[in-house]
Amino acid sequence: MEINGYISDRLIEEVRSSCDIVEIISDRLSLKKSGKNLKGLCPFHPEKTPSFIVSHEKQIFHCFGCGAGGNVYQFLMKSENISFVEAVLHLAERQGIPIPKNKKKIGDVEGYNERKRLYEINKLAADYFHKKLLESSEGGKGRDYLKKRGIDSNTIDRFLLGYSSPLWDHLLRYFERSGISPELLEKAGLVIAKEGREGYYDRFRDRIIFPIFNTQGMVVGFGGRIIADSNQRTPKYLNSPETPIYKKGGVLYGLNLAKEVVSKEGFVLIVEGYIDLIALYQHGIENVVSLSGTALTREQVLLLRRYTEKVITVFDADSAGRSATERGYDLLLERGMRVKVIPLPSGSDPDSFIREWGGDLFLKRIEKASSFVEYMIERIVKEGNLSSLEGQMDGVNRILPILSKIPNAVERDSYISIIGEKMGISRNALLMELRKAILHQKRRVNFSPIQKEGNKGVAERSLIQLMLIDHTNIERVKRYISIENFEDHDLCQIASVLFSLFDKDDEISLQRVIALLPEDQQKEIVARLVMDGMEYENIGKAVDDCIRAIRRRDLRCEIDTIKQQRKEAIEMGRFEEYRMLQERYIQLREEMSKSSI
Ligand code: UTP
Ligand code: MN
Repeated sequence: MEINGYISDRLIEEVRSSCDIVEIISDRLSLKKSGKNLKGLCPFHPEKTPSFIVSHEKQIFHCFGCGAGGNVYQFLMKSENISFVEAVLHLAERQGIPIPKNKKKIGDVEGYNERKRLYEINKLAADYFHKKLLESSEGGKGRDYLKKRGIDSNTIDRFLLGYSSPLWDHLLRYFERSGISPELLEKAGLVIAKEGREGYYDRFRDRIIFPIFNTQGMVVGFGGRIIADSNQRTPKYLNSPETPIYKKGGVLYGLNLAKEVVSKEGFVLIVEGYIDLIALYQHGIENVVSLSGTALTREQVLLLRRYTEKVITVFDADSAGRSATERGYDLLLERGMRVKVIPLPSGSDPDSFIREWGGDLFLKRIEKASSFVEYMIERIVKEGNLSSLEGQMDGVNRILPILSKIPNAVERDSYISIIGEKMGISRNALLMELRKAILHQKRRVNFSPIQKEGNKGVAERSLIQLMLIDHTNIERVKRYISIENFEDHDLCQIASVLFSLFDKDDEISLQRVIALLPEDQQKEIVARLVMDGMEYENIGKAVDDCIRAIRRRDLRCEIDTIKQQRKEAIEMGRFEEYRMLQERYIQLREEMSKSSI
């Protein structure tokens, strides 16, 4: 979260500790005493029995129902739909803590004010374009065009679609009348400074306007489509440039409208274009977001994961086949999302497909959608020449990088069987290659996303919990375990914050840990682990048990790999390699048999 840099950490902590989280939350919902804590109905998900817990002592909250959690800032951000900076400023105002006008420290309050202005300007502009489309005579062109594309007036209102005049300064003059400076409009990406001359001109001219909303429903940017396809020299779509409130990879078009339906339906569809999304909407399919022409980013995956773990991509056949990395599939797989694909006939897109074949057929395709990995296997089998050794190796090299991204071992294993069968390759050979690919990846990213069979990361979770409950445990854990030993990405991140605070001899407090974690879901995990109220009879023994479990698991994994490689070395007659592997094997077995840590 880059926002942390805006206001000094000290001030953020000062504001936080000046208030009582119980009081802030009680302003918004009713809490009842329950043991040491307070309990209430969670404001973030519908429920009949309270599972929302607030701890006065720890100054955090956690919902056992939906997993929301953190300190007072996470609560305000979620309940008021505001950013982190806004939460800090909001609380500072309530507590009467002045935010110093020291520019160096917080050039950010200015930034905050500017951002607020940009949101307002964008909303004004969106309304202006919308009105132009609906009411002006020149807007008739836009109305005709949308009608031709089957977009009705309900949809136009829902998406706040608009039209921009062909004149070069229409928007400029509109804002001039409201006293808004062209410099600010330029910051918003709505106008462009003339080159080598004074003055500005409108960015969007004679286009259908698609306002882009963030999840909170604020307008952050715009896309604009030309009306006549004839002119080859102007791009079909123009988009807002990146601005202080618009980061291209940070929003998903349509998510503001889709998020509730996505939670309800349990999956989300991803399409490529504005009109694709709108066309599905018109056919009653509302759990859909659009990438607006760019590859999926990590940030977008995290956004989606707040609402669902199931994703179906609807791209045309050619583009679904492009490399997994290029399209962002590996980001989805890495995060443990279930990914399916609906490949469309080459040359068609969701809009043209649904208009030609109707919504029912599209729903059937959704039902029958195959998993992305199986789809890729099919393709490789179809495209490759699997009767030659070279072709087989090629195929394996294409599919393994994808498989190695899947965190769940059982799932990976089932694909191995399918691949073996389809490609005519032995299961063992595939497993061996897969291990190599995974180890390779482990080295590269410094932690492995793989969760091994039979171990759902219980030891890792407990170990983090023990360190959070009692910071003096960190030292012992650190002696035996390094952050690479944590296979779960979020737990690894938490461990790394704990370890680095310890290394720097910094004050370790729950609130500091929460403040330093980069992702909200990690703050939620911390709140959950602390609130879980697990009673350990003997903390020291629990710590040692967890350390041992993790070390044994890692040893076992390495032993398995070595055994495979040893077998391969014998089969291939590589005796020198065999000898080295054998040495390492004996060493590992010895370590394994020593039960002390
Ligand atoms: P497409 O070229 O597939 O267009 O681009 P489309 O969505 O089917 O649009 P129609 O049906 O021709 O109106 C997919 C998406 O890529 C982005 C847009 O977000 C578009 O919706 N794009 C495309 C651009 O940003 N710039 C372009 O010049 C073209
Ligand atoms: Mn299209």
